Amino acid sequence: MSVALITAGSAGLGAATVRLFAKNGFRIIVNYANNDQRANKLIEELPAISTLPQDGGRSNFIAIKADLGNRDDVNRLVRESIDKFGRLDVVFSNGGWTRYRGMDSIDDNAYEEEWDRSFNMNVKSHLWLMQAAKKHLDETEGAFITTASTAGISISASSLAYAVTKAAQIHLAKALASMAAPKIRVNSVSPGLLMTEWIDDFPKESKETHLQKTKLKRFVAVEDVAEQVLTFARNKSMTGLNVVVDAGFTL
Ligand SMILES: NC(=O)c1ccc[n+]([C@@H]2O[C@H](COP(=O)([O-])OP(=O)(O)OC[C@H]3O[C@@H](n4cnc5c(N)ncnc54)[C@H](OP(=O)(O)O)[C@@H]3O)[C@@H](O)[C@H]2O)c1
Repeated sequence: MSVALITAGSAGLGAATVRLFAKNGFRIIVNYANNDQRANKLIEELPAISTLPQDGGRSNFIAIKADLGNRDDVNRLVRESIDKFGRLDVVFSNGGWTRYRGMDSIDDNAYEEEWDRSFNMNVKSHLWLMQAAKKHLDETEGAFITTASTAGISISASSLAYAVTKAAQIHLAKALASMAAPKIRVNSVSPGLLMTEWIDDFPKESKETHLQKTKLKRFVAVEDVAEQVLTFARNKSMTGLNVVVDAGFTL
C-alpha cells in the first residue's frame, strides 16, 4: 500500500490533496505547524473516505507537527514517517511563505528578513525535504512534487521576494528531477490564486484584479490542483515539469 507524505497538509491545497489521496487508497502522513486540533480533525475524517480495507481504519493516517522552516524538523518529519509506515512512495512538498507587499514599490519589497524567510520556506525547505526523503523514494521509485506558483513565472505576485523565490523553486525542482533520476520523478505544480486562508490578508482589489485577468473568469479550485498532484504521483513518464493550473491567468 502506497504511502504519501503531504506537507502543510492540514488546510488549503494540502488538505484537498490529503482527501483526494485518501480516496485513492494511499496511507498518509499529514504535516502541519501549529493547529493540532485542525490536523487531528482532518485525520479523523479520512477513514470514512479511504478506499483502503477498513480493518486498519485510522492507523492508515497520522498527523506530524513539524516546522518546514527548520531543517531539523524536516529531518525528523521524514524519520517519524518511516518509523510509522516503513516506506515513502510520494512526497508532496507543499509548504510556502509570503507576506503581501504588492509589486509596485521597490521600497515595500526590500525587507531583508522577508527575503530570508521566503528563501528559507520556498526554496531551502524543499531541498532539505528531498534530501531527507531521497533514499526512501529511491527504494519505491517514487515521486516528489512541489507547489510553486504562477508568481514564479509572471510579474504578478504577493511580493517580489515571493515571486523570485517561487521562480527559484521551479528551477530547483527541474534540477532535482535531473539529479534524482532515474529512480525518482520530480515535478512542480503552479497554481493561480486559491481561495485559502493564505490570501486572507491580500487586498480585496488585488483578488478581483486577478479574477478578471483569468481567461476562465474563475479562481482555481484546490481540488483541481490536487488532481494534478495525483497525476504526477501516478504517471511514470513525467519528470522535470512545471504544470500551471491558473484558469488562464498567465495566458
Ligand atoms: N493560496 C494561493 O493563492 C496560492 C497560489 C499559488 C501557490 N500557492 C502555494 O500553495 C501552497 C499551499 O498554500 P495554501 O494556500 O494551501 O496555504 P494555507 O491554506 O495557508 O496552508 C495552511 C497549511 O500550511 C501549514 N503550515 C503553515 N506554516 C507551516 C510551516 N512553517 N511548517 C509546516 N506547515 C505549515 C498549516 O499548518 P497550521 O495550520 O498547523 O499552521 C496548514 O496545514 C504554498 O506553497 C503556496 O505558496 C498558494
